[in-house]
Amino acid sequence: MRPPPPSPASTHPPGAGGPAELLVAGAFAAAFGVGAALWATGQVAGLIAGGRWPAVGLGEMAGVLVRLPGSVGDPARAWPAGAQGLLPGAVGFYAVLLALGALVLALLFAAVRGWEHVREQGLGLGGPRRRRRPGARRPRARQRTERTARWARVADVRQLLVPGAERGRVTLGRVGGRPVAAERRQSVIVVAPTQTYKTTGFAVPAVLEWDGPALVTSIKTDLLRDSVAAREHRGEVRIFDPTAVSGYGRSSWTPLAECATWEGARRVAFRLTHAAQAARGAGGDADFWARQGTRYLAPLLFAARRKELTMRAVTGWVNAEAEDKVRAEIRQALGAKDGEVADREDAIACQAALEVLKSVWSAEARLRSSLVATVAGALDAYGDLQVLRCSRKAEITADWLLSGSNTLYLCAPADEQERLAPLFVALIGEIRAEVYRRAAATGEPIDPSLLLVLDEAANVAPVPDLDVLASTGAGQGLQLVTIVQDLAQIHRRWQGAAETVVNNHTAKVLGAGIACPRTLDYFGRLLGDQELRQVSTSTQDGGYGQRSRTESSTWRALAPANVLRESEAGTGLLVYRNLPPARLELRPWFWEPELRELVEQAPVGATSPHDPDRAVEQL
Ligand SMILES: Nc1ncnc2c1ncn2[C@@H]1O[C@H](COP(=O)(O)OP(=O)(O)O)[C@@H](O)[C@H]1O
Ligand SMILES: [Mg+2]
Repeated sequence: MRPPPPSPASTHPPGAGGPAELLVAGAFAAAFGVGAALWATGQVAGLIAGGRWPAVGLGEMAGVLVRLPGSVGDPARAWPAGAQGLLPGAVGFYAVLLALGALVLALLFAAVRGWEHVREQGLGLGGPRRRRRPGARRPRARQRTERTARWARVADVRQLLVPGAERGRVTLGRVGGRPVAAERRQSVIVVAPTQTYKTTGFAVPAVLEWDGPALVTSIKTDLLRDSVAAREHRGEVRIFDPTAVSGYGRSSWTPLAECATWEGARRVAFRLTHAAQAARGAGGDADFWARQGTRYLAPLLFAARRKELTMRAVTGWVNAEAEDKVRAEIRQALGAKDGEVADREDAIACQAALEVLKSVWSAEARLRSSLVATVAGALDAYGDLQVLRCSRKAEITADWLLSGSNTLYLCAPADEQERLAPLFVALIGEIRAEVYRRAAATGEPIDPSLLLVLDEAANVAPVPDLDVLASTGAGQGLQLVTIVQDLAQIHRRWQGAAETVVNNHTAKVLGAGIACPRTLDYFGRLLGDQELRQVSTSTQDGGYGQRSRTESSTWRALAPANVLRESEAGTGLLVYRNLPPARLELRPWFWEPELRELVEQAPVGATSPHDPDRAVEQL
């Protein structure tokens, strides 16, 4: 006979038992459990009552189980004959059974509690016990361990590890001997005092390795000198050096290039006046005075551009603003009288500019003199002939810079920063605006990204909304590297926004030797506290009494001020987003053979240094 086919409805895989088999297996397991419990009770009861271990094996318990229902009143009778004499009466037997049951339950309970303890705290490495509110959920193990700050291990900074220089990423240094780089376009800020390898260890390597356009500020020539040859090999280099401090061939930039439209003139005027206010550390008032100053400066820039004049004309107009001759000249430039204006849009723009200007001219004397002072401050640099000479043509433009792996250096002498800051900030603003415009047009960050290295940012290029730039640049295709000395310096420039400026940079590097209390306090808070576990043992009664062991926790700054201050030159701390802080080894170019090679290659010669006076003559 053929076996019946397996039922298609069967849900049991082959080999697994059905309900009947499971029932039988369960019965066997229960019988085994009861047998084992009885065996243990018999053995212990025999030992207690009879003075020795009954010679009964587990295998004999099957018979005991069969006989026991008939002798519940005297359980000893169910045991093999040789053991019966050792066992106590019913009361003794059941008392032992109960005691053993209680013992097993207690052991089980302790085991469960112990397991939970291990799951919560690890093997004795957790923090102090916290009292839970009744009904509160048990905290998860991870929440407890994260309470203590700690230094990063290499595995913690996995996402930053790179095999070497990687296109589109700024290498920060090494963690545990492994190179680490900020993620693409994530802004970097370096805070360290002078002579701690900021320029040679961050700015120069970043510029050397960047494959794409770069805009770099340089005090005198330090950064320029070390990176210009390498950048000339990548693309075209132009140097905006208004005071001819570098001795290199200079290029010209004029704010008027963007002033062909009324909107453009307003943007440029705002950048110049806002930067001047920020450079003076005007704080919250900067915005107000920048807007007021813009009302006056924008029509002048627009008028000068329409007449193809230069910045010299604009400064002249500001200095003699009350003269009728000057006012007539500006009116005429805005095409108000002679009917030259054919284009309707242009006519509207001219009319708007003239109306704004008239409101300034007719303003009350005190306000007018404040506006003139604000604008004169912003254009102060153009009082210098060198600077004027450097503003005649528009050789430096955003279109040129972004057209390849080109480099624009902005050079300032150490003592002229305040006067030049408005120009630098306006120039950076012009290029940034073009980056944002291109990104908005495509909906994608520009590629390759623009590297923007602001060395000595607080002095040379106090971009008023640096906090915004640091947090939004990434989305537009702008890789920002900000270099400053300390938080006190940032505070002087950005006032209340100082901490936001630092916070908004994804990668924060603190160099060695910081003495500024504000900086130490800020980074101390950022790094957090680590828990130190202390175990102390004490003996009472002069050493003969009971020994007691006490465990306590103290919390100490992960990097106390003295540790931060005294850290070794050439090292730093990296705080990257929410990763644990890492100890960083810096990479001054002269310590790194591959960077040294880039620095020391033969210059192409396009911008090679020559007599500064000749450089000026050429313009
Ligand atoms: N080519 C070089 N070889 C050796 N040391 C150098 C070289 N260039 C600069 N240094 C040294 O590197 C140190 C840091 O310089 P730098 O990076 O300019 O400091 P920072 O920008 O932090 O003020 C200085 O002590 C300087 O003397
Ligand atoms: Mg420097």
